[in-house]
Amino acid sequence: MKNILGLVSISLILFSACQQGLSQKDKKEYVTKGKEIAQATFKLMGGEVEKKMKDGGVSKAAPYCNAHAENLTDEMAEKFKVTIKRTSNKLRNEENAPNSEEKVMLEKFKTLIAEGKEVKPIVETDQEGYPHFYAPIKMKKKCLTCHGVLGESMKHEADSIIKTLYPNDNAVGYKEGDLRGIWSIAFNQ
Ligand code: HEC
Repeated sequence: MKNILGLVSISLILFSACQQGLSQKDKKEYVTKGKEIAQATFKLMGGEVEKKMKDGGVSKAAPYCNAHAENLTDEMAEKFKVTIKRTSNKLRNEENAPNSEEKVMLEKFKTLIAEGKEVKPIVETDQEGYPHFYAPIKMKKKCLTCHGVLGESMKHEADSIIKTLYPNDNAVGYKEGDLRGIWSIAFNQ
């Protein structure tokens, strides 16, 4: 009987340790991994977009993103055994829409940036119980060709090309440094 009670209490301790989620050490490791995956994906996508921009400007690059953005993220997801998503509160492709947890993170990062605070990646256990990495995606100057302010940093011509592919496009009007969206990476495989 004593042994059983002992076993039960050990299991309870272990169970509650798991429930408390990730240790600081785990979080640190997932932050490092998440950053590595986000950077590799960004480099792959960015490299391809730059090639197409040199080749034929927005009229070549935008259809390329339209056809391949998902394949490129899936390729990296398979390589790193994770699920990779880029999402935003101002969408271009509705398939990238945020879920409830991502909406909370978008708001969190938006507030921090608005308050002029430093934004760092966050790792949390998600609704499905997996470690989940979130990090802000900020607008760089080179992104504005396709996400900038119309008639200023973004040409109307570029907007027309993008609107033919995404009639409900909402992802324009950004300035350098603005929060464009977030990386959302689940360590679920
Ligand atoms: C050649 C035009 C072009 C450039 C330059 C560009 N984007 Fe995009 N962006 C797109 C298109 C097209 C999509 C939709 C891709 C898809 O269908 O998933 C998109 C989608 C996104 C998304 C996914 C969320 C959504 O709204 O669907 C993010 C985040 C994003 N872009 C960030 C950036 C950042 C950051 C840069 C600069 C480093 C950048 N983009 C440069 C055209 C561009």
